[in-house]
Amino acid sequence: MGILIYFTFATFILGYSSAQQSCTAIDLVANFIVGNETVLQWNATLRAENGGKNGATKVSIENVASTSSPKYHLTEESKAKASINGNAMIPCSSSRAGRKNGCSWSTTNSTFNLALPVVLDGNSGDAQIFEGVIDENSISLEWGVILQPGNKCNQDGEGNSHFPNVQVQIQQCCTTFITVPPPPSSAPTCKKYKSRAIIRNSDFSIFSTVNTTIYQNMMSLEVTSDYTGPTGSALDISANGYYTMCMTHLDTTSTCSFPLVMGDSKYIFLLKMHDKSNAWNYALSAGRFVIRNKEILMEEGVAFTKNNDCFYTSVKYDDGKMGTTELCCKEFA
Ligand SMILES: *[C@@H]1O[C@H](CO)[C@@H](O)[C@H](O)[C@H]1NC(C)=O
Ligand SMILES: *[C@@H]1O[C@H](CO)[C@@H](O)[C@H](O)[C@H]1NC(C)=O
Ligand SMILES: *[C@@H]1O[C@H](CO)[C@@H](O)[C@H](O)[C@H]1NC(C)=O
Ligand SMILES: *[C@@H]1O[C@H](CO)[C@@H](O)[C@H](O)[C@H]1NC(C)=O
Repeated sequence: MGILIYFTFATFILGYSSAQQSCTAIDLVANFIVGNETVLQWNATLRAENGGKNGATKVSIENVASTSSPKYHLTEESKAKASINGNAMIPCSSSRAGRKNGCSWSTTNSTFNLALPVVLDGNSGDAQIFEGVIDENSISLEWGVILQPGNKCNQDGEGNSHFPNVQVQIQQCCTTFITVPPPPSSAPTCKKYKSRAIIRNSDFSIFSTVNTTIYQNMMSLEVTSDYTGPTGSALDISANGYYTMCMTHLDTTSTCSFPLVMGDSKYIFLLKMHDKSNAWNYALSAGRFVIRNKEILMEEGVAFTKNNDCFYTSVKYDDGKMGTTELCCKEFA
């Protein structure tokens, strides 16, 4: 009897850990600490789900609870804000009744940085709560990590950044996992990728282009890019918005190295084109890598193969411009 239970249990564990999982909800506990005392605590659940139309994702904040004192509290508007693909912060918009304190954003396979407007001893400002990627209706961390059932929490901290004497510590634990399609058991290894991103004006004339070459090293991705666009503009290229040190000026080439984390991970190559004073900017994906079992995929369950060697995506901007991207494997091993 004991042995039977043991084997059943072992099979369950093995079966469970071999299936690929992604995270769709994270419980956040943000502690604002002065000295050794928590002066403000904010809890919420961040959830990603299918947003219905055109492959969009609905990102919501639920079960919000926080402490409040005259010196340490949320600002009056109190709504969490998010910067999507590095754009200006947008406050969460209240959804229909039903979900307690619920509000949401709509995203399109984007980087997602969550901030909370707080007042701490007379200083008001936005505290960074979560930096990540919301892609394929699931949540991963900014430096690539896909949280796993066996490793479901991440501890983040803002140090004492822009609030004097206040430390911000954030516990992020995934509470809901979904099983995603497994990576194919055999697919060729790709040695070299090329991405071509073009933004066109509404009359189809070319506004800007970025050509990128990506090589995989043992623990990093080497990314070389060429940029053309309006006079005086520049390109910032990053993985998940995190490694933003990589900037290219007009008609120049830049080479950057983006470190890879161990284990299953996800990277969106985010291109941000802007003029010198940031009067305008356009964000565009140069493609994604999902790494599962050390294999690079173009999306969950889909490898780069000779018959299916390119990933495509597109975006339409509010002013009528249109961005398109293709990321292709150009050399199989
Ligand atoms: C917290 O700090 C105060 C003053 O710095 C000290 O008196 C107190 O013992 C500390 N409490 C704990 C639990 O460490
Ligand atoms: C997000 O990615 C998935 C998988 O590649 C795709 O099916 C979906 O259409 C994408 N959504 C958008 C808005 O591009
Ligand atoms: C936040 O969550 C923690 C852990 O679950 C709990 O101990 C604490 O009471 C919660 N705080 C608030 C303000 O609800
Ligand atoms: C990107 O490549 C295309 C042709 O493949 C070329 O027409 C375009 O000028 C290139 N852009 C840059 C910035 O190198």
